[in-house]
Amino acid sequence: MAKIIAISNQKGGVGKTTTAINLSSALSHLGNKVLLVDFDSQGNASQGLDALTSNGQPTVYNVILEDYPIEKAIVHGQKTPVDILPANISLAGADLVMDRLDYGKEQLLKAALEPVRDEYDFIIIDCPPSLGLLNTNALTAADSVLIPVQCEYYALEGVTQLLLTIRLVQKTSNPNLSIEGILMTMFDYRTRLSVDVSQEVRHTFGRLVYQNSIPRNVKLSEAPSRGVSIFEYDTRCKGAKAYASLAREMLHIEEEPAP
Ligand SMILES: Nc1ncnc2c1ncn2[C@@H]1O[C@H](COP(=O)(O)OP(=O)(O)O)[C@@H](O)[C@H]1O
Ligand SMILES: [Mg+2]
Repeated sequence: MAKIIAISNQKGGVGKTTTAINLSSALSHLGNKVLLVDFDSQGNASQGLDALTSNGQPTVYNVILEDYPIEKAIVHGQKTPVDILPANISLAGADLVMDRLDYGKEQLLKAALEPVRDEYDFIIIDCPPSLGLLNTNALTAADSVLIPVQCEYYALEGVTQLLLTIRLVQKTSNPNLSIEGILMTMFDYRTRLSVDVSQEVRHTFGRLVYQNSIPRNVKLSEAPSRGVSIFEYDTRCKGAKAYASLAREMLHIEEEPAP
């Protein structure tokens, strides 16, 4: 049965989608079967893996709100070995529709994933940049939350609020939700700022923070324009190595010794 991990932070531009795509791919390259759920109406994860191919294609919206069979909406990655449940702009209206439901509005994604849960080792959910009902649905469906934090001023702004939201979900719709880890992203070892922020985050959150952080690496921002993860774009770059190491850290696999 798949472990379900939500990649969440209500701030935009902190590396959620980049992490969702490349962590999914890294886990797959380590021999796992992975489904990436795009749960953001911007559809960046779907576009980044070339999963939106035709107009009128079914998306996560049709699956959670119109009972469309999830198996038929899942796109099998072509060049990157990850399955994708795509999203597009239609998801922007989902909050309103969900909010009108009398009961179970937090459980829609969880229920939708149930039929395919046994087919995967990991289901990774790329969350939207907000703390609304979509995010609550993701946290209710998930076993754990991975929180990307960008190495910049105000990095921690919002994380406290996200942690409160996580606690609320734990008290109400998902008592088993845990924190997978906090991931420092866009780390630039040449700047004092990155080093300071990283130290502050590690000081505040201790062992919740991954040993591996993700460096700022232009290749990571280029790969989506080719519709592939970093491992098909440039497997030797710093960004690929960082996401591969993160996946190994997550699975508690020892680092390979340097050649
Ligand atoms: N480690 C990185 N190095 C360089 N650019 C990055 C890195 N991580 C993300 N980016 C770029 O920063 C922008 C925001 O990242 P994204 O993953 O889309 O964030 P979010 O999903 O949180 O909004 C994108 O243009 C992305 O390509
Ligand atoms: Mg995103």
